[in-house]
Amino acid sequence: MTESESFWEFYWKTRLTEIETLGKRAAILAASRLILRLSKQLGRPLRLLELGCGEGQIIGTLLDAHASLCDVRASAGVDYQAQSLARCRRLVPGARWVEGDFTDATLIGGLGEFDVVLLINALHEVFSASYCVEMGEINIPLGKQKVERAFSLAVSRLSSHGNLVLFDGVEPAGDPGQPIRIRFHSAWARDEFDDFVHGYRPFQITYQKLDNAFSIELSQHDFIRYITKSIFIRKKLWESECLESYQYFTEAEFRAMVARQGMEITDIEAFTVNDEKWRHRVEIISAGSEFPQEHIFMIAQRGGGSS
Ligand SMILES: C[S@@+](CC[C@H](N)C(=O)[O-])C[C@H]1O[C@@H](n2cnc3c(N)ncnc32)[C@H](O)[C@@H]1O
Repeated sequence: MTESESFWEFYWKTRLTEIETLGKRAAILAASRLILRLSKQLGRPLRLLELGCGEGQIIGTLLDAHASLCDVRASAGVDYQAQSLARCRRLVPGARWVEGDFTDATLIGGLGEFDVVLLINALHEVFSASYCVEMGEINIPLGKQKVERAFSLAVSRLSSHGNLVLFDGVEPAGDPGQPIRIRFHSAWARDEFDDFVHGYRPFQITYQKLDNAFSIELSQHDFIRYITKSIFIRKKLWESECLESYQYFTEAEFRAMVARQGMEITDIEAFTVNDEKWRHRVEIISAGSEFPQEHIFMIAQRGGGSS
């Protein structure tokens, strides 16, 4: 490890202690490494754009840490929540904070070009916005179409050497209808599951009780939704988390979308950071089944690019 690498390792270790979500920490670290590499390669300050920037935990932290490597005034964040943007403005007053819908082609078209475009925990909200009241769940084909449209708008903002960073939920490969049997470790975990079944809106969750009160069978599709949401149930964040499906594409579908947009993936990883918390709640009793990969992280650039 070089001196500079060990400096940044130490910097992020201390800087990110207040960010509870471990997956997010991993995304910030990887984006930081990209900024260090790309700024050296391009030899000029980088313009960053985050779509669905929220309170600026990602882009604000990156701009603050890498102020000398980024063109803060030419960097921007887009979100439709005015309150969140107010926090961004306090965090990084010099950048552009745009209130609006990042799936709106006119808004995105007017933003200019960027060297790093960040889509961090944002596209699953686009997918989840296709909830259909008549169906009582998300309209999956429509949701997927909207995700791809938003992704192509993000790609359209990339400079010729630009890189797109995506971090979000991932649907495991395989048959989503495959049954899986689980056993809850406590009455508390079993009750929490009931709260999930009643409160989760994106899809109707079904399950069968097994021989004892603590064991059930459900589909892979429903299991992954339960287990990845379990850490939010009964917490303040559940109010918004219960409205969103974190999963929408498998890794293969992400890869296919990136290829259709003429992009090449330079880095991709599916991983889980919460399995210890999951194991505390349930045990999988079906032979050969395991806890799923929760997040996907990828960096992509225009096909034929050399960064
Ligand atoms: C889960 S938060 C992630 C925030 C930030 N990227 C982070 O990781 O800290 C998703 C954000 O995307 C915003 N968002 C979702 N869909 C949007 C849309 N179509 N246009 C603008 N903002 C959107 C929400 O308001 C929210 O702030």
